[in-house]
Amino acid sequence: MTRRLFIYATLAFWLAVIGFAASPLWLPAENATAAAAPAPLLDAAVPGALVGTPDNARSLAEVARHTQIDDCWMAIDGEVYDLSNYLPEHPSELEVIVAWCGREATQAYRSKGKGKAHSVRADRLLARYRIATLRRP
Ligand code: HEM
Repeated sequence: MTRRLFIYATLAFWLAVIGFAASPLWLPAENATAAAAPAPLLDAAVPGALVGTPDNARSLAEVARHTQIDDCWMAIDGEVYDLSNYLPEHPSELEVIVAWCGREATQAYRSKGKGKAHSVRADRLLARYRIATLRRP
C-alpha cells in the first residue's frame, strides 16, 4: 500500500515538473502581439506629437509653405510645430503670432516679441504641437 502511494506520488511529481517545463508551449505568449506590432509613431509622453526621427525631419522650405491661420507651421529651437489648431487659443492679438507662421520663430517665441520669455506652461503646450525635427540645410 505504502509502496503504491510512493509510486503515484513520484509519478505525479514528475508529471507536474514536465508540465511546468513545457508551459511555454501551451500557454499563450503574452507579448506576442506587442512584439509583432510596429513601433508607435506617436510619442506616448507627448500627446499628439510625432517621435523625432531623421525620417520625419522637415526643412525650413517646407515650413515656409504653411503660412496661413488654418495651416500654420513654425520652426522653434530645431523642432517643427503645426500650430494651426492652437492659434485661436493664443492669448495675444492673432496677428502677433500669425506673423510667424511659416518661419523660423525661435527668437520670437523666446521673447514674445518684447524680451519676455514664455512660461513653462507655454513650453508644455508647445510640445503638444511638435510634428518633426527641423532638417538643417
Ligand atoms: C512665435 C511667436 C509667438 C509670439 C510672438 C508670442 C507672443 C505672445 C504674447 C505677446 C503673449 C501675451 C503677452 C504676455 O503674456 O506677455 C503671449 C502669451 C502666451 N503665449 Fe505666445 N507667442 C508666440 C508663440 C506661442 C506659441 C507657439 C505658444 C504655445 C503653443 C504660445 C503660448 C503662449 C501662452 C500659453 C501665453 C500666456 C503667457 C505665458 O504662459 O507665457 N505662444 N505670447
